[in-house]
Amino acid sequence: MSEPIVRRAYGKINVFLRVLGRREDGYHDIESLVLPVSLFDTVQVGSGKGLTLELEGESTLLAPLREADPDGNLALVAARTLAREAGIDTDTTGAHIHIVKCIPVAGGMAGGSADAAVVLRALNELWRCGFDDGRLLELGARVGSDVPAMLTGGPVMVRGRGEVLHPVYATPTPWIVKSLDFQVSAADAYRWWDEDGARSGPDGGAVLAALETGATGSLGASVFNDLEPGILARHPEVAEVRDALLAAGAEAAFVSGSGPTVVALAPHVIHADKIAERVPGSVVVIGPPG
Ligand code: C5P
Repeated sequence: MSEPIVRRAYGKINVFLRVLGRREDGYHDIESLVLPVSLFDTVQVGSGKGLTLELEGESTLLAPLREADPDGNLALVAARTLAREAGIDTDTTGAHIHIVKCIPVAGGMAGGSADAAVVLRALNELWRCGFDDGRLLELGARVGSDVPAMLTGGPVMVRGRGEVLHPVYATPTPWIVKSLDFQVSAADAYRWWDEDGARSGPDGGAVLAALETGATGSLGASVFNDLEPGILARHPEVAEVRDALLAAGAEAAFVSGSGPTVVALAPHVIHADKIAERVPGSVVVIGPPG
């Protein structure tokens, strides 16, 4: 029996998220800069019979996961997808997955997708499937739109519905993350964008240039999220959190991905702790993680 594999699954923020339009398959074409940050789940994958999943973490964080259909958990979906592709009978050659959650659930930080990406890589090793990166990316896209970006592990510009990837360079920048105690589904966030007039922001050139140098002033002036207006219109409490982070000294504050987690950019790493202290429940992260 092989030793269990233990890896970190880093969450992400979308430094900009531009929605280009709704497609015939119901998804939306997007352009986005996905930046992994130093907030992570810990995923342990070991051999077992059948596919089993154990979740650990603060009860408030786990409650929505426990209420959801366990078969729909992206870590298990990833394991089933890989097993099917590799022709593995999981009744005999299965896996036990243990996840310590720290990334907000259904919060717009791709925690579930990050866990799924780690499971795909770990089981590829444990089951000796021998799939290369290209094949894993293809399988990841079947599991969820955010999984390919999370498989790359570094800052990446995404297009299509999230599966077209261009790795980029990003100087580490300091962020403050504030999760909220409710969930927004990605399907709702994208539907609200359709319903509210389908407006697209500018191309992300200014964001990419600022991220390369880590110039927080120009980065703060260029970040945006096209999904944000629809979320703020339906959840005004999100705007209150954003305003509190700005009042605390953030360079910019906005919703990450499909929300509702709010992220704020600190002018400099020396200011990040002070901003977080002024907004209870927020945490400081660095993106990309060291
Ligand atoms: O791919 P994933 O299962 O994470 O997507 C969840 C839902 O989010 C999709 O069913 C779709 O409604 C919406 N979505 C979208 N466009 C994307 C990604 C997600 O409309 N690029």
